Amino acid sequence: MSSLRERSVPSIDLGGEAAQVAKAIDRACREIGFLVVGNHGVPQATIDAAFDAGRGFFRLPLEEKLRSCAPDGRIRGYLAPGGQALARSRGDESPPDLLERFRMGRFDVPDDAYHRERAARWFVPNIWPGSPPGFADALKRYFSAMEALSGRLMRLFALALELPPGFFGGKIDRHISNMYVNYYPAQPSPPRPGQLRAGAHTDYGSLTILAPTDAPAGLQVQDTAGTWHDVAPLPGAFVVNLGDLMAQWTNDRWVSTMHRVVNPPRAAAGTDRIALVFFHQPNDDALIECLPSCCVDSPPKYAPVTSGEHQASKLRRTFEKNAP
Ligand code: OGA
Ligand code: NI
Repeated sequence: MSSLRERSVPSIDLGGEAAQVAKAIDRACREIGFLVVGNHGVPQATIDAAFDAGRGFFRLPLEEKLRSCAPDGRIRGYLAPGGQALARSRGDESPPDLLERFRMGRFDVPDDAYHRERAARWFVPNIWPGSPPGFADALKRYFSAMEALSGRLMRLFALALELPPGFFGGKIDRHISNMYVNYYPAQPSPPRPGQLRAGAHTDYGSLTILAPTDAPAGLQVQDTAGTWHDVAPLPGAFVVNLGDLMAQWTNDRWVSTMHRVVNPPRAAAGTDRIALVFFHQPNDDALIECLPSCCVDSPPKYAPVTSGEHQASKLRRTFEKNAP
């Protein structure tokens, strides 16, 4: 097991010259599908406030957290431990993951037919706990910063794929992204066999942005040879990875990498971990079909699918209960 950082984690400085940045992104997305993104412009105070809000919430007694559960299975609010196994999104049998989640989505959408009717299942109301104070504001501010950063990354992705920079604009301007705060509690008693903090999976959408954290390692990615590597946190930098839709869009020129979160060693079983994860997901009706620049040499490998249908089918497998 070696650290990807030691083995040249592809590190991207967003402040660089666009054509050079795009080139570096293309290389990283072909090879591993994970990037460490620095010079991103998101204020540290916005990141810190979101982490503080998350920590404050997960520290509450379970009974209080349970009051923020969705009464109807919608992907909002608190998800108690035992409710999900990410490996099941790939059809693998797995005991539940050892995590709790808080889930939110867009909060400022217009009252039109798309947001209130056709794609309404993705814009269900958020559930905001009464405590800690400022929780909703901190997460909303962070979510907005992630919307902006993902838009910027998608423009760079277009450039990296030899497309016009605005190519993805009309496919993400009514995006159906979700954000989770993942909390991995300490593990006073050993996990069951095969039970992880988050089982091996790929993400579903276009790209995922994981907040900078100095928490003990745990996130691992699998290379094409099947070997798992630690992703060492890099202070101040986001970890960005591709999801399945980007692999499908690019006809597998880019990879949606398997990753997981492993348990701490027993000597560190008293440590918890928190992660802010923004899952960027194109418009409900965006048709994901082989990009013009990616089916020149090989025919399309995937049947076209809409972003909304793809996300719904993945969520249905992951959740034990009803999903959209
Ligand atoms: C996820 C995920 C990683 C982490 O929620 O899909 O991969 O560090 N999370 O929590
Ligand atoms: Ni993931």
